[in-house]
Amino acid sequence: MGSKSQGLLITFEGGEGAGKSTQIQLLAEGLQAHGHEVVLTRQPGGTTYGKRIRDLILEPAQEETLSSRAELFLYLADRAHHVEYLVRPALSAGKIVICDRYTDSTLAYQGYGRGLDLDQLHMLNAAATDHLVPDLTFWLDLDPRLGRERIAGRGTLDRLESEDLSFHEAVRAGYAALAAQDPERWIQVDARQSVAAIQDFALQRALFFLN
Ligand code: TMP
Repeated sequence: MGSKSQGLLITFEGGEGAGKSTQIQLLAEGLQAHGHEVVLTRQPGGTTYGKRIRDLILEPAQEETLSSRAELFLYLADRAHHVEYLVRPALSAGKIVICDRYTDSTLAYQGYGRGLDLDQLHMLNAAATDHLVPDLTFWLDLDPRLGRERIAGRGTLDRLESEDLSFHEAVRAGYAALAAQDPERWIQVDARQSVAAIQDFALQRALFFLN
């Protein structure tokens, strides 16, 4: 992967309330205005099966607590289907795929957040995606306290959003560690900046990568 004639995979990562959805939409529009064909998608939930898996994972906790391993395999099932059914075909057709969350969410949330073994997660991510690695990853970084304030008005929190602050702080520390390990791929963005400032920055970086 990475050959420009074979499309480009851009992922967005970050904690809750960091503004990913807004920025993804704006980046897609910006790239389209520059003549690129863009496919916008997400994990979990980018396919019909994925939507059902997403509902299952995110519905607020019931009488049983979902085991961390079961949670992991649900994300992986979504990912395996999504990559095979949607992402790879779009890349093969030369399109830019922008994906809201990908393998790094599993490392950050199930690894750093839940404490599952990172080596094992790397292996399982590789198996689920058949080794498809993003070309570029934007990490919208925000203090989880601020993220929580931002999402407070959205209504009922989902199962992951309802995790306590220490979980979300561990996730953030996880992203920081992952970004430090692969600075070529990761672009850290301070999510406290204005929407327009982030939008301009992300578009410039993506266009720079494409040239
Ligand atoms: P979001 O798409 O609204 O951000 O919600 C997805 C939630 O699922 C979010 O809390 C992050 C979490 N998640 C994981 O824990 N592991 C994963 O592999 C993925 C893709 C998401």
